[in-house]
Amino acid sequence: MAERLGKHILVNAFNMNSIGHINHGQWVHPRDTSVNYKRLDYWTDLAKTLERGLFDAVFLADILGVYDVYGAGIDVTAREAVQLPVNDPLVLVSAMASVTRHLGFGVTVNVNNEAPYTFARRISTLDHLTDGRIGWNIVTGYLDSAARAVGRSDQIRHDLRYDQADEYLEVLYKLWEGSWEEGAVRGDRASRVYADPARIHPVHHHGQFYQVDGYHLSEPSRQRTPVLFQAGTSGRGQVFAARHAECVFISVPDKAAARAASRAVRAAVAAAGRNPSDVRILAGIAVIADHSEAGAHEKLAEYRAASSPEAGLAHYSASVGIDFARFGLDDPIPFGQSNAIQSAAKIAESRGYTKRALLDQLALGGRYPIAVGTPVQVADELEAWVREGEIDGFNLTRIVTPESYTDFADLVVPELQTRGSYKTAYGEGSLRHRIFGQGDRLPATHTAQGFRIGGSLLGAAE
Ligand SMILES: Cc1cc2nc3c(=O)[nH]c(=O)nc-3n(C[C@H](O)[C@H](O)[C@H](O)COP(=O)(O)O)c2cc1C
Repeated sequence: MAERLGKHILVNAFNMNSIGHINHGQWVHPRDTSVNYKRLDYWTDLAKTLERGLFDAVFLADILGVYDVYGAGIDVTAREAVQLPVNDPLVLVSAMASVTRHLGFGVTVNVNNEAPYTFARRISTLDHLTDGRIGWNIVTGYLDSAARAVGRSDQIRHDLRYDQADEYLEVLYKLWEGSWEEGAVRGDRASRVYADPARIHPVHHHGQFYQVDGYHLSEPSRQRTPVLFQAGTSGRGQVFAARHAECVFISVPDKAAARAASRAVRAAVAAAGRNPSDVRILAGIAVIADHSEAGAHEKLAEYRAASSPEAGLAHYSASVGIDFARFGLDDPIPFGQSNAIQSAAKIAESRGYTKRALLDQLALGGRYPIAVGTPVQVADELEAWVREGEIDGFNLTRIVTPESYTDFADLVVPELQTRGSYKTAYGEGSLRHRIFGQGDRLPATHTAQGFRIGGSLLGAAE
């Protein structure tokens, strides 16, 4: 038996408030229930399943536009429900929180979604209602269709999007960390002081992208700032992650690529003056498990039969901003400098992917690897990814829903637990405390420290 891993693998259920997410075409599979995404009990049942499997969090992706790059339209996207229709993910959280006690939530919200001032309150509200279980996946967007839908001719340039996101975060830190001092809320009935006005401060932010003069509307919640997730590992993306991210979600095809990405992220975090161990790195992966190896491969064949490789390609076209419908199966693809997800384009370019290769690869797994086999084989593979890839855990994509999650909970989790590489019970405390074990709030080494009362940078952009 291999040497013990010596740590618990973090596992989030990767999902989206939609039918097709990563593994496209599975909605036609007879056991798939993803067409019920509109029903509240679909989500509350899922939350209960995930908590039974001691998942750390449900991680919800989101987009604000449609995938209209492939074939210059939405034909495949609509026919195969490729992240269209897509409902709002944040609205699901209260319902799922009400039927669970420990499950965390990592919800994707684009910084172009709404003003930082109103977003700050929305998140604080959820941090209160979940008692500190909310996380935010910070994305800057990559779809021209999303930009056009809100009145821009196309999206802001790649690196400028991150500059804007940096300032968005700065405003949020001021609101979450700097507006209400510790102890501002007294709740003192005898002296009729709910909150001490001397300890509540207006934020005055006058920057390049945002102007804010106002008080944070919510009193401090357990975590104040949600656990900060980030995905996107281009050069500029990494600089952004190094400043802000606590959990970085990477999309990598193999363990060597995971190791390279992980080392690059941790080096960037250290260069930004933070502790590299204050960041967790999660890779996307699909798991197909069964009691027997033959059973697992039977499921793989079934899932492949249900899949829609063309739908996978329509998704991928939008991710890298290239219309693959224009190319022959074996044509060389001019990847070039993408204004969409640069890290995704770079991987495909470095591997010399043709359309034929992409159709095969995207049929199942999407841009993520697949671990197939018995619980022992899958556990071996996951442990190898963590060890050799130098990562901390996974965002587990769904293939057939809820089968992918129930198989993981019922088959893989017990095997990992016997090896000591998965928790046997939830710890207490907020999502942040359960991930890092150092309390509910961001550590003093985090960028947000500068925006706390008494912090050296408070009011720097005034
Ligand atoms: C693994 C992964 C998952 C992502 N998930 C989302 C998502 O759910 N919604 C979204 O708008 N952008 C998503 N993105 C895009 C990035 O967050 C980012 O905004 C942008 O595309 C730039 O990425 P780059 O720095 O790699 O070029 C994702 C990117 C990666 C690599």
